[in-house]
Amino acid sequence: MFQNLLIDYNGAIQHIIINRESKLNALNKETLAELHTAIYDALNNERVGGIIITGAGQKAFVAGADIAEFSSFDSVKGEKLARDGHRLVFNQIENSKKPVIAAINGFALGGGLELALACHIRIASDNAKMGLPEVSLGLIPGYGGTQRLSHLVGKGKALEIILTADMITADEALKIGLVNHVVSQDELLTKAEEIMNKILTRSPLAIETAITAVNASTQTGVDGYEIEIAGFAKSFGTDDFKEGVSAFLEKRKPHFKGL
Ligand code: COA
Repeated sequence: MFQNLLIDYNGAIQHIIINRESKLNALNKETLAELHTAIYDALNNERVGGIIITGAGQKAFVAGADIAEFSSFDSVKGEKLARDGHRLVFNQIENSKKPVIAAINGFALGGGLELALACHIRIASDNAKMGLPEVSLGLIPGYGGTQRLSHLVGKGKALEIILTADMITADEALKIGLVNHVVSQDELLTKAEEIMNKILTRSPLAIETAITAVNASTQTGVDGYEIEIAGFAKSFGTDDFKEGVSAFLEKRKPHFKGL
């Protein structure tokens, strides 16, 4: 069904594999449109609890937006490219009610790192290289890199990464909190699945509410504390809350239904 993605399932996990290996999985227009559809489908498929995004092959997660495709763009087309990307893919992932993990299996550059930054959790293989090299092309990051990288690693480190356009290693990324874990390439998907499967034992409603509240912490003009209080309060009215508390008191594992 997709030309540039492979879709795979393991239990309640949907894997989305960006599959343009000959172009280091660079995000062209078609791939972005397919990513939007694949994520939309996953969000609306009740058998899917969480999503893992990775790149095909052993060399690249995603080496950026497709440079050839935007090489002749003017400002108007550039704005549309960024705006559509934000709305249809990057914000869609960040605001996904189901958890999304990036399994960074190699180069994550430009739009590729921005894709990983939009995910809720990042796991990198030890060969991964990350960077936002846009200024070396006469551009700046356009899919949220200036915002999400600053929130994640702090303004100083973000400015160094963006202004130098240098790539950093997986270990450096771990040290500054850009990725959550670094493992060998062989172990990458296992580690991502292990974390996702743990999340999937928790209340899906609470997971959704927690994602919303944490996201609110970086949204300008939004009082994250109020979002947290509202989400906390709403949780008391759910079956998941009753099940979670009953299971604790009865010394058994909870069986959440997401209701
Ligand atoms: N957009 C379009 N095509 C890309 C691409 C991108 N972002 N990144 C890599 N490719 C293509 C190359 O053009 C090449 O295609 P070809 O074989 O048809 O010539 C192919 O992928 C392999 O890349 P190549 O550069 O030959 O591999 P390498 O191992 O020598 O270098 C990188 C790897 C990642 C260092 C290099 O590809 C690179 O710098 N890519 C661009 C990174 C970037 O600036 N991204 C931000 C874009 S906003």
